Amino acid sequence: MLNPDRIDRAVEILRHGGVIALPTETVYGLAANAEDELAVRRVFAIKGRPATHPLIVHLPQAEALPDWAQAIPPEAWALAAAFWPGPLTLVLRRTARATDAVTGGQDTVALRVPQHPVALAVLSALGGGLAAPSANRFGRVSPTTAGHVREDLGDDVDLLLDGGPCTVGVESTIVDLSAGEPAILRPGGLAAEELERVLGRPVPVRTASSVRVSGSLASHYAPRAGVTLVEPPEASARAQALLGQGVRVGVLGPATLALPPGVPRFELPEDPAGAAHDLYLRLREADLAGLDLLLACLPPAQGLGLAVRDRLARAAAPRTPGT
Ligand code: TXA
Ligand code: MG
Repeated sequence: MLNPDRIDRAVEILRHGGVIALPTETVYGLAANAEDELAVRRVFAIKGRPATHPLIVHLPQAEALPDWAQAIPPEAWALAAAFWPGPLTLVLRRTARATDAVTGGQDTVALRVPQHPVALAVLSALGGGLAAPSANRFGRVSPTTAGHVREDLGDDVDLLLDGGPCTVGVESTIVDLSAGEPAILRPGGLAAEELERVLGRPVPVRTASSVRVSGSLASHYAPRAGVTLVEPPEASARAQALLGQGVRVGVLGPATLALPPGVPRFELPEDPAGAAHDLYLRLREADLAGLDLLLACLPPAQGLGLAVRDRLARAAAPRTPGT
């Protein structure tokens, strides 16, 4: 997994303006040297993402924070000390090192130290920042294995580092500390309860903000099949009715749920962290099954359940063609 030759090769590619896919603990990332504007533009082109949507800059360690951010509040240092490396992204006021290409012209920058030996090895050897969105095409489900990246991006990347399946399975939690009260811009792999424990106060979720967060677009994280949210007790009757209308329907939900014969189950564990871990995998499987409609049971809004509910809600939202 941690092959020094592959790490050296990755760094060489990055130093020459290349783009690589690499594992993090959350999802696979599509990475370029954050200070190389042309390489960053290639990331947008490969993803098919509008250039105004900002990217997260990945750092080798928290000590690099002042290179990229200024006016860093004590809360940022406290969160970095508690959760980095880990599935937490901090939005802070940028320094000149964070270019318009990375920030989409905003005066803030999103930063995180990922917790994966391969990502950390590349970052320390590079000695700089890596701009890396999730390694999927814009608007599609994020990849949690190297195989997913290959399916999505094929030969468009200069190198794909395989670090095994991602341990967290959903993207990082994004916390805005750039102005005023801390707020969660995207629930993710670090539970809100954990943030609140360290900050000693509630941290509200503020996804409908003025900043451009592509994850807040209605059509994001969408599998090909339609997705409808259901409370677990309704799933069976809804599936039965749809089946009767000739709809190819499946259910995303726990093993304990009784389903009518002929309705495939895409099992999500009851525990929120397990559900987060398996979510994208199951959505991809549901796609391969050629369903018309996936009935998705919402997990409780606790711990990583918040992130799972958020992604399912986006998958179920009306889709705008072309986004
Ligand atoms: O777990 C993750 O965060 C993964 C792995 C690869 O690190 N990355 C990821 O990147 O999910 P991406 O680009 O798919 O999502 C980054 C999110 C976007 O929703 C983007 O709009 C937001 O971060 N973002 C980036 N810079 C921002 C800023 N200055 N202010 C607010 N949101 C920002
Ligand atoms: Mg993404």
